[in-house]
Amino acid sequence: MIQVVTTVRELKTALESYRKAGKTIGLVPTMGALHEGHASLVRRSVHDNDVTVVSDFVNPTQFNDKNDLQNYPRTMEADCKLLDKEGAQFVFAPSVEEMYPEPDNRQFDFTPLDKVMEGPSRPGHFNGVAQIVSKLFYAVEPDRAYFGEKDFQQLAIIREMVRQLNLKIEIVGCPIVREEDGMALSSRNMLLSKAERKLAANISRALFESRRYARQHTLASTRKYVIDTVNSFDGLEVEYYEIVDGNTLQPVDNWDASSYIVGCVTVRCGKVRLIDNIKYKE
Ligand code: PAJ
Repeated sequence: MIQVVTTVRELKTALESYRKAGKTIGLVPTMGALHEGHASLVRRSVHDNDVTVVSDFVNPTQFNDKNDLQNYPRTMEADCKLLDKEGAQFVFAPSVEEMYPEPDNRQFDFTPLDKVMEGPSRPGHFNGVAQIVSKLFYAVEPDRAYFGEKDFQQLAIIREMVRQLNLKIEIVGCPIVREEDGMALSSRNMLLSKAERKLAANISRALFESRRYARQHTLASTRKYVIDTVNSFDGLEVEYYEIVDGNTLQPVDNWDASSYIVGCVTVRCGKVRLIDNIKYKE
């Protein structure tokens, strides 16, 4: 049976015996409302490690929008069921006071990674992510930690944070899990109406089509193709579409500029911001 732990002290005690016995520990940080995307990370961790800890914590410091924080779905009971089935040993579900006994004033600088795409749109977001993920890393001291490529920029920033803090944690990036119609799974999808959800499938459709389009068109033209295609649907509005180097996250201006090229999009669908990305070269 999965064990729910709510304090750092309890968690450290529980993990101590495993560590002493030389067991490896995998950590999967989440904000709950778990779906198949999260489950794929958990499965990978259970496969790679002796013990898997899944954190389930809606981190207030990474929300720059109070409404977004309030509306964030919370489904703890269902989450535990899913994690039990996937074979995780611990759910770490602390209170806000437990993670932030005093305000966290740390300011991270991930220039240039945090200055593009989601960075300007969500001031303070990645700083909040770094605050909570570093705290989780200190609390769990995992051998490996698992993050989805769905949040492509977040993954790059976590790798950079681990480098800056000299942590000995292997960061494992996992592929995007999609619905049958191509839509990337996200906890936010449940905030969409039925009509919006159907409309939103056009985002990934445009991305996949653009991969074909890209074979015969310039990068600039491909970028425009995605933006125009998505915007042509009433109810979808592209916030940005950037085609970037997969390591530096800086925009590239032609297909030969890098051997790793990814297109990252954020689209507004009603009140919900949806993000997705696609690899053109890797
Ligand atoms: P959350 O949005 O719950 O996502 C937790 C992890 O699941 C992230 O690494 C995310 O990239 C991954 N994930 C989400 N949807 C996925 C999908 N369709 N396919 C593959 N992986 C997917 O990301 C966060 O929480 C938070 O910022 C967190 C890192 C936990 C810090 O609070």
